[in-house]
Amino acid sequence: MTALAESKRVAALKGAHFLDFTGWRSDDLYAVLGLAAELKRSRERGERTPYLQGKTLAMIFDKASTRTRVSFEVGMFELGGHALFLTDGATQLGRGEPLADTAQVLSRYVHGIVVRTHAHSKVTELAKHAAVPVINGLTDDHHPCQALADLLTVWEHKGRLRGLTLAYVGDGNNMAHSLLQAAALAGMNIRIAAPEGYEPQEAVVQQARQWARTAQTEVTVTADAKAAVRRADVVYTDVWASMGQEAEAAARLPVFDSYRVDRELMKTADAAALFLHCLPAHRGEEVTADVIDGPQSVVFDQAENRLHAQKALLVAVMGDV
Ligand code: CP
Ligand code: NVA
Repeated sequence: MTALAESKRVAALKGAHFLDFTGWRSDDLYAVLGLAAELKRSRERGERTPYLQGKTLAMIFDKASTRTRVSFEVGMFELGGHALFLTDGATQLGRGEPLADTAQVLSRYVHGIVVRTHAHSKVTELAKHAAVPVINGLTDDHHPCQALADLLTVWEHKGRLRGLTLAYVGDGNNMAHSLLQAAALAGMNIRIAAPEGYEPQEAVVQQARQWARTAQTEVTVTADAKAAVRRADVVYTDVWASMGQEAEAAARLPVFDSYRVDRELMKTADAAALFLHCLPAHRGEEVTADVIDGPQSVVFDQAENRLHAQKALLVAVMGDV
C-alpha cells in the first residue's frame, strides 16, 4: 500500500457513504485526490494495484450512463475486485421490493453499492439500511463522483486548487450542487451563473458559503454569465435539460440561450482558463463546438479522471487501509 493510501485521512473514510460532500473535511478531499493521482501514475507504469482483491461492488442504475458505469466497472477490475451491474427492471426493485430490504440483502453479499437514480431520497434511504458503503453515482440533486474527477483534472492542469476561481454557467442542477460543495471544500472561489428560476438550491448555496468562510473564499450566484466568467480560471457547463427533464428540453432552449459557453464568453475568462464539461455534451446548445473541441478544453482528461478518482474513493471506503 502506498504512503498516501495509508494516510490517516484516507483511512478516516473507511466504511463511509458518499452521497454528497457533507461530512467531508478539506483534508479528506485532498487525501482522495492525492491517492487518485498515485493510482493514475501506477496505472501508467503498468503496476498492479489489487487493493480490493476479493471485494464486490453492486451498481444499481436507473438512468443511462457511459462514463460512470464503465469507469466503476473497470476501476473495480483494476483494483482486483468485481462489479455487478444491476438495473431497476432486472431486479425485484422494479417489482416493488422495498429499498430497505434490498439494502440489507445486498449488504450480505457485496462490500459496496453504487446507485444512479432520480430522487436523492432513494440513495439516502438505501444508505440508511445498508451495512456497506453507498456511493452516489448521480441523483437529481448531486453528482459528487464527477466533481472529484473535475477537481483532479483542474489540479493536474493548474498545479493547485486553492485560490482558483471556477465559473459554472447554466442550469443550477446536480452538477452545480456538487461543484459548489467540492470547490468550497477545496478552497476555491465558485461562481454560478444561472437564469432566474434555475438557480441552485438555496440550502446547498448556504452550506457552500459556510464552508467557504473557513477557506476565506467566495461563493457567488448571479444571472450574469459574463460577470461570473470574468477572469475565471475554470469555465464549466453542463446540459440545459438533465436526465428526466427531456419533456422540458424545448422550453428551456430560449431561457438558456444567453448562457451558452462560446468563444466570446471564454475570452472574458483568464487567458489560461480551462474549459470543463461533465459530458455528454450538446454542441451548439450549452457549448459551441469550437470551445469544447478547442485548445482550452480538458473534457476528455476529465472523463478519464473519473476512473482514477473513483478508484481512490473505492479504496478509501471499501479497502482495508
Ligand atoms: N458524466 C457522466 O456521469 O457521464 P455518464 O452519464 O455517461 O455516466
Ligand atoms: N446534469 C446531467 C449530468 C449528466 C452526467 C444529468 O443529470 O443528466
